[in-house]
Amino acid sequence: MAQQDDLFKNLVSHSKEYGFVFPSSEIYDGLGAVYDYGPNGVELKNNIKLYWWKSMVQMHENIVGLDTAIFMHPKTWKASGHVDAFNDPLIDNKDSKKRYRADVLVEEHIEKINQKILKDVEKAAAKFGEAFNEAEFRSTNPNVLRRQEEINKIEARMKACLENEDLADFKLMIEELGIADPLSGSKNWTDVRQFNLMFNTQLGNIAGEEGKLYLRPETAQGIFVNFLNVLNTSRQRIPFGIAQIGKAFRNEIVARQFIFRMREFEQMEMQFFIRPGEQAKWYEYWKETRAKWHKNLGFGEEKYRFHDHLKTAHYADAAADIEFEFPFGFKELEGIHSRTDFDLSQHQDLSGKKLQYFDPELNESYVPFVVETSVGLDRMFLATLSACYKEEDLGDGNSRVVLSLPPVLAPVKVAIFPLTKKDGLPDKAREIFNRLRLDLNCQYEEKDNIGKRYRRQDAIGTPYCITVDHQTLEDNTVTIRERDSMAQERVSVERVIELALEKCSWSKVLK
Ligand code: GAP
Repeated sequence: MAQQDDLFKNLVSHSKEYGFVFPSSEIYDGLGAVYDYGPNGVELKNNIKLYWWKSMVQMHENIVGLDTAIFMHPKTWKASGHVDAFNDPLIDNKDSKKRYRADVLVEEHIEKINQKILKDVEKAAAKFGEAFNEAEFRSTNPNVLRRQEEINKIEARMKACLENEDLADFKLMIEELGIADPLSGSKNWTDVRQFNLMFNTQLGNIAGEEGKLYLRPETAQGIFVNFLNVLNTSRQRIPFGIAQIGKAFRNEIVARQFIFRMREFEQMEMQFFIRPGEQAKWYEYWKETRAKWHKNLGFGEEKYRFHDHLKTAHYADAAADIEFEFPFGFKELEGIHSRTDFDLSQHQDLSGKKLQYFDPELNESYVPFVVETSVGLDRMFLATLSACYKEEDLGDGNSRVVLSLPPVLAPVKVAIFPLTKKDGLPDKAREIFNRLRLDLNCQYEEKDNIGKRYRRQDAIGTPYCITVDHQTLEDNTVTIRERDSMAQERVSVERVIELALEKCSWSKVLK
């Protein structure tokens, strides 16, 4: 079986081989950090969207949906701060000619120190056994304390550099920490400078700056500019939320790790409009609620952690990431941001339109505050694949690759096989297939032996396979095989239909 390091590579090739993810325009050798979703990928992606939409919109009486255009009036991005502040601090290595995000280089350096602390903790845990008290060790061991102090100093300095836009000190810090180009080992760096991440294009009928359009870097602004439209047409009253799923575009510099960081990606965002002063309460509420949403999928509670931001984005007074343990470490999966009244106030100022809410209980008007939840759909897709991709040794000289996807997310819910292509078995199998596909995405397969058919379905994560054999013709029973345990059970055709519908029902995860 593959080591953890190889697992990610295997997962990427598996995604291509089984029609989940393809490099974009591959016949021309692909386009950096842009990907296409194949026949199984699009099903999985749609199911993740459905899980989010059902939980956020259908299960919340005070959240409604929206679908806004990718192109927006250019003033939107001036108001939102993206024209002036949606920048990454960049640095180039003069020898390797590679470009990096300066903050990522420093964060990777911090992570190395963190790993040393973890090693000390593991060693001590092994030495002291059951008597080991990790909290006490961390707060008293001189090595750990020295390293933690080092981390705190670096974090404080980076925070100051970012907040004060002190790019000269950022470069000095990289040099003083002895940070080298991860690829070439060279420490020959350029200055740090800011780079705007928005893609732009031009309207056909207006020349120059006036006709400059941006591809939206987040879906959120479509929600803010429609705040009044939704308020006036949906009968919602504060507190209430507006949710949308859609494409976003960023000219990412460090675009690697497969679909983790892409230049074109999808976001699932919700803006929750609240009374000013209530942001701390709702921020905590949405942190909790969103963490539960992730954990509900059963990938393991230990796979998630919160990371509070040192430096909040230009629009936020508090921000945290829900991080997921990807094969390459804990990384951001979702952001929860307390956006204050920044966006609505900015749009109000620039558009001259009043973006306020009259609160009948307080008998006053105000610009609502906002708490945002924002999860990347493609990152959610990668988290799901990473958690579910398994290479299993079956112990009899055989092995299999299985995607242990929750049934609601699986591209195909049930595969139906006739044991052979003869004796009327295909007709009977098709009868069951035609019944089940009214409610579930199913596949009918008669090619190859049953073993091979099982392996193919395991590899795309199909939770249930139903086999029609000669006994079916005598007593109207079939076998149903469960993907993870590989256990088979013989049940009647009526029962197998009930079982499949029950096991793949949304109510299981939405409750
Ligand atoms: N509206 C707030 C916002 O856009 P963000 O933290 O920049 O906040 C939110 O992005 C989420 O979008 C991230 O947590 C991540 O899941 C996803 N995301 C951001 N940039 C991405 C990229 N280049 N590729 C894939 N997903 C990305």
